[in-house]
Amino acid sequence: MKSYKIAVIEGDGIGHEVVPEGIRVLEAAGRRFDISFSWQHFDWSCQRYLKTGSMMPEDGLEQLRPFDAIYLGAIGYPGVADHVSLWGLLIPIRRGFRQYVNLRPAVLLEGIKTPLANRKPGEIDFCIVRENNEGEYSEVGGRMYKNTEMEMVIQENIFTRQGCNRVMTYAFELARKRKNHVTSATKSNGIVFTMPYWDERFADISRKYPQVKTDQYHIDIMSALLVTQPQRFDVIVASNLFGDILSDLGAAVVGSMGLAPAANLNPEREYPSCFEPVHGSAPDIAGKGIANPVAQIWSGAMMLDHLGEKEAAQTVEQTIFKVIASGDPRTPDIGGNANTREMGEAIASEISALAAKTR
Ligand code: NAD
Ligand code: IPM
Ligand code: MN
Repeated sequence: MKSYKIAVIEGDGIGHEVVPEGIRVLEAAGRRFDISFSWQHFDWSCQRYLKTGSMMPEDGLEQLRPFDAIYLGAIGYPGVADHVSLWGLLIPIRRGFRQYVNLRPAVLLEGIKTPLANRKPGEIDFCIVRENNEGEYSEVGGRMYKNTEMEMVIQENIFTRQGCNRVMTYAFELARKRKNHVTSATKSNGIVFTMPYWDERFADISRKYPQVKTDQYHIDIMSALLVTQPQRFDVIVASNLFGDILSDLGAAVVGSMGLAPAANLNPEREYPSCFEPVHGSAPDIAGKGIANPVAQIWSGAMMLDHLGEKEAAQTVEQTIFKVIASGDPRTPDIGGNANTREMGEAIASEISALAAKTR
């Protein structure tokens, strides 16, 4: 039996509601495929910050380092400024562990109503490869002449050759396993240094993949195209901020924030990778037990895939698709009135039923 040590950070808000459903489903898959998990929970969160003054202990990353993977809900909650909570926990994990790829599939599932008219499953199936360590999210900058008429703030963007090359290479390798098509999100008409550099790197890396079709769009029209012609996209490679924005747009066109999984990957496997949905802590619905756990469960399938448990990963994914297609149960965000737990239990028991059949 294979066994994995997983660090669990539920975090804040609906993280406490969706992570247990993810674990429920992964446990069911574990029984089916002879995988055991040892889950170690860390209470790192805004609540911890309010009690102790920090989101995680000073040696937090050292504590996480020995784990095979990190399974995370969401970070951030009213009461702690978002830049304090996120830069105190999630962003240090992504950076410290060189999780430079944030992989975010957007797939329109059978049984889900997209807000886009006349789009059918199969027509929306793209994957965002978001640069996750640099770009617009930088710590370079500062404020001067605070609280005076001369007050000024600077935030620098950082684009490195290595940083662009590695994320773009990942995108091309991924495209080879999909539809051989990579689209780059740019804004080199308005941002005169970093974005022409991004384009230059993209052209350079694309030369190594002559079999992969490429195109690029400025982020403004690309946002429109994702709404009007989403079928044009296969793999999208984007800088940190552009990839962030496109991910929520991706979730919207496939029907709900609650259906968008993600993986923060260190492809070289020098460090643990971190699996968490695209969505946040959803304070507006937190505590009500109605969050859709599918994005969290699906992120768990991405974790299985990264751990090398391909069959288990596929089974979890396929079971999610089957339960969603059946139309019952479904949470309010996708038009039903089931609760978080009913959704998680339906997927888990479907997997357990499979296990019984094959024994
Ligand atoms: P959000 O994703 O938390 O919520 C946006 C909207 O989507 C809300 O109406 C919410 O109810 C809905 N939603 C999100 N997940 C859902 C689910 N699983 N099921 C049903 N509905 C769902 O975004 P926000 O409101 O901008 O952010 C709230 C907090 O979360 C902030 O502190 C933000 O910084 C943080 N955040 C964290 C992460 C992360 O940890 N990766 C990601 C995004 C936002
Ligand atoms: C995400 C979130 C984070 C990001 C925030 C909370 C810092 O929006 O994971 O998409 O921008 O990376
Ligand atoms: Mn985001």
